[in-house]
Amino acid sequence: MAVLPIRIMGDPVLHAPASPVGEITDDVRTLVADMFETMDLAPGVGLAAPQVGVALRIYVYSYEDDEGQPWRGEIINPELWMVSPEPGAPDPDEESEGCLSVPGERFPLRRSDRVRVTGIDLAGTPVSIDVSGWRARIMQHEFDHLDGVLYVDRIDDGDWKSVQKIAKKRGWGRTVTSWTPGVDGFES
Ligand code: NI
Repeated sequence: MAVLPIRIMGDPVLHAPASPVGEITDDVRTLVADMFETMDLAPGVGLAAPQVGVALRIYVYSYEDDEGQPWRGEIINPELWMVSPEPGAPDPDEESEGCLSVPGERFPLRRSDRVRVTGIDLAGTPVSIDVSGWRARIMQHEFDHLDGVLYVDRIDDGDWKSVQKIAKKRGWGRTVTSWTPGVDGFES
């Protein structure tokens, strides 16, 4: 297994739709193992393949279930259904999220409170996940990555402008295109 560099916003792979996985090959199995290792070290609660430079519809996640037990897995070729988000402005304390591809930053974003994700796991077995709350947020965030959407593409205009300033100042998308957990200290 290997820790992979995580692409930073501005890298084209993060801003284009990813392709469905055909056959689950050894390469795919290695990729998923490396994604888990990278996510855990970052640390993060989710990681999508485009974030490590691979334009495939795969993401991994790791959080807790309702009993506080580990909840983790991989989803290949996911589909996502959700109830409409509640109207209104997000609460910065309760509804702020971050992204390993926008390292060190958090911004509020209203999300749907309940989703269903279907797809297959690494064994090719169909999976169906019904979750709410923070786990629903993780699913929406990671699914977006597969469509080339970052959460900062969804935040309000003022925050979006702040992100652009931060990106410019730090050279994201120009001189700085990735960071590596365990090597660079953005999130850890
Ligand atoms: Ni992200």
